Amino acid sequence: MAIKRDIANIKLAAEGKKKIEWAERSMPVLRLIRERFTKQKPLKGINIAACLHVTTETANLMRTLKAGGANTALCASNPLSTQDSTAAALVKEYGIPTFAINGENNRVYYKHINQALDFKPHITMDDGADLVSTLHKGRRNMVPHVLAGTEETTTGVIRLKAMSDDNALLFPVVAVNDSKTKHFFDNRYGTGQSTLDGIIRATNMLIAGSTVVIAGYGWCGRGVASRAKGLGANVIVTEVDPVKGIEAVMDGYQVMPMAKAAPQGDLFITLTGDINVIRMEHIRKMKDGAIICNSGHFNAEIDIPAMKKASKKRKMLRPQVEEYTFGKKKVCLLAEGRLINLSAAEGHPAMVMDMSFANQALSAEYVVKNHKKLERRVYVVPEKIDAEIARLKLKSMGTTIDRLTPEQIEYLSSWEMGT
Ligand code: ADE
Repeated sequence: MAIKRDIANIKLAAEGKKKIEWAERSMPVLRLIRERFTKQKPLKGINIAACLHVTTETANLMRTLKAGGANTALCASNPLSTQDSTAAALVKEYGIPTFAINGENNRVYYKHINQALDFKPHITMDDGADLVSTLHKGRRNMVPHVLAGTEETTTGVIRLKAMSDDNALLFPVVAVNDSKTKHFFDNRYGTGQSTLDGIIRATNMLIAGSTVVIAGYGWCGRGVASRAKGLGANVIVTEVDPVKGIEAVMDGYQVMPMAKAAPQGDLFITLTGDINVIRMEHIRKMKDGAIICNSGHFNAEIDIPAMKKASKKRKMLRPQVEEYTFGKKKVCLLAEGRLINLSAAEGHPAMVMDMSFANQALSAEYVVKNHKKLERRVYVVPEKIDAEIARLKLKSMGTTIDRLTPEQIEYLSSWEMGT
């Protein structure tokens, strides 16, 4: 039977397969899970609709879920992050229904989400909560099928918690983002590297000696700040949270409001998860030639509608680089303000996605086993799963660590012993 799909070009499948296999080499934990899933089939008969960035790393997750016995369907979680060759290989080489075309417009983006929902998921797997949100808004007839969902990213977890607080969430969701083996590594080292990778691929700019303004000092902002500093940038951090502000100061960065940073920056990167962090009042103060981009989940962190309204002229200078003219000043916006790391580069390296997607695969197995005990709210990944992923990752790196001695175990569990 023909695999259902809406992709750019099936002829790209052979190229996509090679790239997926290349990524697989750096995903040893997911590979081990796939080997076990192949034998045990813990997801047998389970329909999984996934709304994730369609990358080579995601393809390896989809293969793992399929090996576990799941019927999977995949759509894109961002219109610009789809790798068309990966989508083609998913369909042709791995038999996975895929609905994703790089550059798709908003209408097609939601059409694809609905096509994934047509598979009547028992598990929803989201990156940003658009799948769950679409299901709750217009596809409520799907709710009785759903055992639970999983969520990959900070922004999605925030949306789901808001739904849960409003009593609007109709099934349990596991916040994969919140497990330690996800956000300590993917958000920090993954975003840190891939954001600069995207900026450099798009512009070929020199980071050394430039002033980089980073909006938001969460795990992603911390990662990007550290990598930009490592490449020789003068880093300015903007924050709204006083604790994160102190942390950025003590990590050695200048901290100030965006209005003060605006005239100083050569490159601006938003990673806040909030809206309109860079507005016209800031852009008007920027240097001629300043570069602005976003690495937060949604393209709402820069007030692009206001930029479009205020600009006299817009011009594409090279792929992903659009110049806006405001009077005598020109400012460049990268990748339409969408995730720069996935629009202009390939997202996080497979080495780090290995842990994120091990969390997804094991969380899917967990909800199949435990859904009857779960309520309609947001759950963290069980600590046992988190620890097991860390153990396997360390092992795959050939790194060993110490074990507690019996005396240390006793010491840690006693309260009588002091100095
Ligand atoms: N999110 C960030 N990087 C990613 C990648 N390489 N694949 C899937 N999702 C991602």
